Amino acid sequence: MTSIAADLYPRVSHVVPLAEWTTMGDDVEAILRLKAERNAVILAHNYMRPEIFHGVADIVGDSLALARKAVDVDADVIVLAGVHFMAETAKLLNPSKTVLIPDLRSGCSLAESITPADVRALRAAHPGVPVVTYVNTSAAVKAESDICCTSGNAVKVIESLGVPKVIMIPDRFLAANVARQTGVEVITHPGACEVHERFTPLDIAQIRTDYPGVTVLAHPECPPEVVDAADYAGSTAQMVDYVDAKAPTQVALITECSMSDNVAQLYPEVDFVRPCNLCPHMKRNTLGSIRHALETMTNEVTVPADVAEAARRSVERMLAIGAAK
Ligand code: 13P
Ligand code: SF4
Repeated sequence: MTSIAADLYPRVSHVVPLAEWTTMGDDVEAILRLKAERNAVILAHNYMRPEIFHGVADIVGDSLALARKAVDVDADVIVLAGVHFMAETAKLLNPSKTVLIPDLRSGCSLAESITPADVRALRAAHPGVPVVTYVNTSAAVKAESDICCTSGNAVKVIESLGVPKVIMIPDRFLAANVARQTGVEVITHPGACEVHERFTPLDIAQIRTDYPGVTVLAHPECPPEVVDAADYAGSTAQMVDYVDAKAPTQVALITECSMSDNVAQLYPEVDFVRPCNLCPHMKRNTLGSIRHALETMTNEVTVPADVAEAARRSVERMLAIGAAK
């Protein structure tokens, strides 16, 4: 192993075996060199594998944090280690920068569930009702919307509108969870996250049987009955904040698999039970695909100018609503 990789090992030592890290040293070192050569930064979502999240990323966080921090990026190139809609959002906020994604096939079941025509049909069916669109959508869908939200600020965004009824798309579970929290009537769309929709209340009951006293944190993309069975529901960043503030002895994060690894590295004294589902789209990001994108400067993500202006407006309206995580 090179000395650079050896120096970095403590960053992942709790969750990546040394033998595995040794095989990664070459890619890690190449990525660090390429970042300097290209004046590039890597923005990484909380679902990235630990060797990306702790090893080579410059900025990490949930969807909201990545959107917020993208605004301040001081670099020529942004590599968005995440999925396509996140790269589009980074591009919307940084039109003059080159935005790369390690694998152009990194989609999202929510983004794929809805088209701009669907949004126009909802508007026509519910005239005058504002359209709140989850960031997990294409720029073209954002362009048809009034304002965006993430799982971390959905309640705040809805409450900011001060209306009794909203169209909230495309995640039917997030919409149902937010409707219960706000008391606002929510019209939605039949989209779902293929990772979170698979969790059931029975899974939570089984975890509680197997690990008595465990604290269960669920993502709000889970069905409402799963959220009900959990001790707390929040975005991936809010889960980290919960662990940080409450220091539970044992915790189960009802979300994507890499999340527990990344948080476990930061809180080695907490025991993480790992019931999880993999997101195949997030998992397309590897050290190899990041290295390849930076080496070849391929997989650029762009947004057509006519779509970008309206989509940016929806994202910027969201960002203007406070700094809630
Ligand atoms: P957050 O990180 O905003 O909680 O989103 C989770 C997710 O599924 C992103 O694709
Ligand atoms: Fe989409 Fe779910 Fe994967 Fe996030 S975890 S990218 S919401 S499919």
